[in-house]
Amino acid sequence: MVNGMFQEYCFRRVPPIAFSLVLGSCSVIQIAVSNPFRLGVLGSGKGSNFVAIAEACAAGKIPAGIALVLSDVESAGILAHARERKLTAKFIPPGKFRTKLDEDAERAFVAVLQEAKVDLVVLAGFMRVLKGDFLRAFENRIVNIHPSLLPSFPGLEASKQALDHGVKVTGCTVHFVDAGVDAGPIIGQQTVPVLDNDTADSLIQRIHGAEHELYPRCVAAIASGDISVVGRRVIWKKSVS
Ligand code: GRF
Repeated sequence: MVNGMFQEYCFRRVPPIAFSLVLGSCSVIQIAVSNPFRLGVLGSGKGSNFVAIAEACAAGKIPAGIALVLSDVESAGILAHARERKLTAKFIPPGKFRTKLDEDAERAFVAVLQEAKVDLVVLAGFMRVLKGDFLRAFENRIVNIHPSLLPSFPGLEASKQALDHGVKVTGCTVHFVDAGVDAGPIIGQQTVPVLDNDTADSLIQRIHGAEHELYPRCVAAIASGDISVVGRRVIWKKSVS
């Protein structure tokens, strides 16, 4: 937020200078992005969304490069996948808390991301809630993927929540990260059916398939400067299929 306002902002491609927030007239916040666009990916788990994004970058479907990959879990598959691709991959100890980073860890994550001149922080299965200083350091520049159609079923075990509730359709959501849990402006969503014989496992597998399509598409739109945000509404300048 700038001066307490979160009204409208858009991503704008500019010559290669650092990402910046510019307050224009009428409280429109333009977010200039560097060229090439630099991603910092954070994950705690196996890293299948990271792989989908890395492959899309390599194939030129996302006009961006992966500057570095960070994890709070030393043995996380995401780090192994990054190293296989010869990308910078670092484990940063998360500190004493279970669900968030402690102050030292938060400072360490922010420092390496800033040092790598990251334009967009991409959360790909990062299992810790990001707090004030991290959010302020990358204001409007952190995205996450969640395995439900938000605002339904935020938090843990989203596919089990969907099954228990008895919904017939669920899916995944890519959204900007704000101070709430799975709560920021929604960039994109993709649906999947819930079948009568689904288990939480079979359903999450189907959702993962949708995630691997949706997340690269949303990151590509941001890196291309093809979205703007008005209040809670994310507007796509052109449809990307
Ligand atoms: C995905 O289901 C994502 O929606 C959630 O964490 C999971 C990460 O999976 N936030 P992976 O590590 O990308 O395979």
